[in-house]
Amino acid sequence: MAIEELARASDDLERIEVQLLLEAIYQHYGFDFRGYALGSLKRRLWRRAIGEKVETLSALQDRVLHDPAVMERLLLDLSINVTAMFRDPTFFRAFREKVVPLLRTYPFVRIWNAGCSTGEETYSLAILLKEEGLYERTRIYATDINDRVLERARAGRFPLERMRDFTANYLRAGGQEEFSAYYTVQGDEARFTDELCSQVVFAQHNLVSDAPFNEFNVIVCRNVMIYFGKTLQDRVHELFYDSLDQLGILAMGHKESIRFTRYEDRYEPLDAQEKLYRKMY
Ligand SMILES: C[S@@+](CC[C@H](N)C(=O)[O-])C[C@H]1O[C@@H](n2cnc3c(N)ncnc32)[C@H](O)[C@@H]1O
Repeated sequence: MAIEELARASDDLERIEVQLLLEAIYQHYGFDFRGYALGSLKRRLWRRAIGEKVETLSALQDRVLHDPAVMERLLLDLSINVTAMFRDPTFFRAFREKVVPLLRTYPFVRIWNAGCSTGEETYSLAILLKEEGLYERTRIYATDINDRVLERARAGRFPLERMRDFTANYLRAGGQEEFSAYYTVQGDEARFTDELCSQVVFAQHNLVSDAPFNEFNVIVCRNVMIYFGKTLQDRVHELFYDSLDQLGILAMGHKESIRFTRYEDRYEPLDAQEKLYRKMY
């Protein structure tokens, strides 16, 4: 076989292995990476294969399917846990201005922060609600599929080097205090006060396969569905619709939208730009 033919055959084989691995991940864990750009995906899959000391992507598939810890490590490699405090400050400003006044009318507020990753978004919500005098009568259920990130969220410790950016976000989001009042410095980490977690329950929940577990006034699920294909997105929208109270609020990420989903007509935009929607019917 000529060199070009050999190279093509090995490319084809790799493509088949990638497709089978992604299909296996989707069917077993619900993560849908099948529509991802192939180049960067391949690099990340190979990084994990080398980390697990296996020589082919088929061998990685075997490890991923039979050992959830390998799947967790692969998830981290695919770096879909990227998050920040007061990420997209304009969203938090809109939340403060448009959602908080509605929440004031409730005696008790239940919020579901779905796909909370390492907790930065949850702590941001807690800080915002505390400043608005609502935190004491709020319960935040912060969930993620990945146990490793939840452990980090519970610890409430974040790299000190990120505080500069987080502080800038906080101020742009309409923060009212000294941001540093919320944490103490321990070595190279910022340790957020326990008080900020007093009304938070961190728990594992898979949006793709787990059932509704409560009724909520607000669901914040940002930058999660962006990783899902259309069928999965529809399933998650059904879950959110079933989990929201009448007039409940759904908050999505800047690159996400309720438009063109089966539930589009059931919501009215509270702030279309910031992807804040209100369940009407
Ligand atoms: C990019 S992070 C978004 C974090 C945060 N919401 C934000 O916007 O900064 C996406 C998170 O969704 C979680 N996730 C992905 N698929 C999930 C699923 N099926 N069920 C629950 N969480 C999931 C990932 O583990 C990850 O922590």
